[in-house]
Formats: sequence, C-alpha cells, structure tokens
Amino acid sequence: MRRLPPYLFGKINKLKYEKRVAGIDVIDLGMGNPTDPPDPVICEKLAEAIKDPRNHRYSVSNGIANLRKEVSLRYARRHGVKLDPNTEVIATIGSKEGFSHMCLALMGPGDTAIVPSPYFPIHVYAVVLASGNVITLDVRDPSRFLSNIAYTCENLYPRPKVVIANFPHNPSSTVIESDFFVELVKLAKRYEFLVLSDFAYADICYDGYKAPSFLSTPGAIDVGVEFTTMSKSYSMAGWRIGFCCGNAEMVRALGTIKGYYDYGIFQAIQIAAIVAMRHCDGSIDSLSAEYQERRDVLCDGLERLGWEIERPKAGMFVWARIPQPWAEMGSIDLAMKLLDEAGVAVSPGRGFGDDGEGYLRLALVENQQRLRQAVREIGRCLRQRGLGAA
Ligand SMILES: Cc1ncc(COP(=O)(O)O)c(C=O)c1O
Repeated sequence: MRRLPPYLFGKINKLKYEKRVAGIDVIDLGMGNPTDPPDPVICEKLAEAIKDPRNHRYSVSNGIANLRKEVSLRYARRHGVKLDPNTEVIATIGSKEGFSHMCLALMGPGDTAIVPSPYFPIHVYAVVLASGNVITLDVRDPSRFLSNIAYTCENLYPRPKVVIANFPHNPSSTVIESDFFVELVKLAKRYEFLVLSDFAYADICYDGYKAPSFLSTPGAIDVGVEFTTMSKSYSMAGWRIGFCCGNAEMVRALGTIKGYYDYGIFQAIQIAAIVAMRHCDGSIDSLSAEYQERRDVLCDGLERLGWEIERPKAGMFVWARIPQPWAEMGSIDLAMKLLDEAGVAVSPGRGFGDDGEGYLRLALVENQQRLRQAVREIGRCLRQRGLGAA
C-alpha cells in the first residue's frame, strides 16, 4: 500500500461530484469514458441472451470458445494476423484487468518493466502491484523511445524483463508506423524482454491513418502479447470485456492467474460481444468519423483561444500544451480552476507523471455542441482572470 500514491485525480473527482450533487452542469472531458451508446444490435443480443437461464451460471475464465474464435477472425480480417483461438486468445474483464494480471504472472521482486511516459497510470501501477520496478521513458519521440530502450537494456543489470508499448498512446496520442514494431521485436529478441502491447485505441483513427497491430509484425508472437478492448471501439466501457492475444505461453500464464481469481465474464455479455465483432465493423467507422469531427471542433476552438494544438491522428484525446501564462499555474491547479469556474472537467497532465506537466488531456467523449460550449466556457473563464486571448 505504501508504494501506491494518493490518487491524483481524487481532488478533481471530488469537486466534480460536489458540483453534480448541487445540480451544476459539468462538461466532462476528464475520462476516456464514451457517452455514445453501443450499436443497438449488441444490446438486443444481450437482452435475448439474458433470458436464457444457462447464461446465468459461472462462465469459463478464458472466455467461451465462440468468443475466442470471433476474436481470431477479427484479427485476421482487420490486421492480417493468424491466431489459434485455443492457445493464443484469452478474454479478459476489460483490458485493464488482463494487463494487470499479466504483470502479476510475469513479474516479481527484482524484475523491471520499461513504461512509456507520460504514463497511463495502470501501466506503472500494475507493475508496482506485482512488486516490480518501473523505468519510465518518454514516448513522444518514438525513435528516441526505441534507442532509450536499447540503452537501458545495455546498461541495466538485470536487464528489463518487460517493455510496455501503447500506440495510439494514452495520454499523449503519439502514434507509430509498423517499422517501429519491427525494431521493437528485434530489440526484444536481442535483449530477451517480453512486450505487452496495449492496443486500446486500435480502431479510433483519423485522416486515413491506420494504427498497426504489434502482432502483425513478423516474430512478434515469439516475444509478446497484445491487449484489445470492447470499451472504446464499441462504446462498451461499462461491460468490462477485452482480450489478450499472442504468445501462447504468456496467454497460458495469464489464464492460470485468472483461473484462481475469476469465473469469467457474464456469459450474456460474451455472446453480445460476438455479435458486436461479427456485425458492427460499420459502426466503428462511423464512430471514428464522429470522434474526428469532435477533434476538429475542439482543436479549432482551442486554437481560436490562442492555444497551439497538435491534432491527434488517433485515440480519444487531445493532449494540449498549456499556453503561457497559465502553464506556470501547474496543470492540476489549472484543471481545478477550469472545473470550478468554467464547469469543464479535464485531466491535468501531471496525473500521468512528471512528463505530463505542462499539458491537459481532453477526452472527445461529449458531443460537438457540448465541446463548443466547453471552448466558450474555457475562453470566458480565462478571460475573466485577465489571462485569455484578446
Ligand atoms: C491505454 C488504455 N489501456 C486500457 C484502458 C482500459 O480499457 P478497458 O476498459 O478495456 O479496461 C484504457 C482506458 O481508458 C486506456 O486508455
């Protein structure tokens, strides 16, 4: 417990809660928690499956066979990756659960993981919970990230056991091309580390960009696994369903841990997830198009306020550098101010580690009208304090 710091978003979440209780409207761009509903066919299948008494029993912790088969078909269709559904695919209770328990399966005291920074908290704390050590490396320049991995492997003894990849990256929205993974696999083989690729934002891509799957790299399956989720692509975040695919030995290790901890995802959810993957590729495309429009609304608006914004090519976030003079305030105080005075919740970059200071992360989860309103309120709030653009 001593290695787990106080939750940095705690203060902001408390204020958000107090405002809601007081009936004050908050435009919530804090979490990547989709507000769009899943495709109706998914909900209809859930409603049907829930009526079958057989689906109310404990399920299997690896995921039912037809679900694992559907995941392997989807990987073949969307990424050209062949997977054995029996040995190379496992269902998880959201990718966060799978990722955390994989760390527990692989790591112990004395083991080190390299984590991309600024970091999504669970990438650090899953390693901490497994009693491992963490080395964070700035991910925003991917080729420097690679050379720093190599440098760390050359100079650290014992060498890192695990390297975490996460592209499209949360929070920085950094993306890569497939040659990045070719180099990563080479390094993994040379320095004998394992790769955990968190591919949560696999499908939310803009302007024709296509995020490469780690598993589509030759040799990747020898050295790692990839985590995917129904939370983002299908707006099923509350359903808690994701997958871990790739190296059979690692998948088996995760299955062993999960066999002790859980009895599997509610079976009706697994059945509805099969339908989602089989029939809803079209909704993913329209969802991406909607996120892209939201990105443009938010970025256009912030640019009008004088912010210099790098438009993300993928993911669900705008990672906005805080302009002067507000940067001096620190991202936590600025986020508190925006929530308190503008009624807009955002995540302070500091919540993603020291490398995140100087930034705010804004999630594209509210509709375009609400995003326009958010920009107006941010502008008004900062002008009132004499700090806004003219
Ligand atoms: C990078 C990343 N990985 C994993 C997750 C968690 O996904 P899930 O809902 O599948 O646990 C998130 C959610 O925000 C995320 O941003």
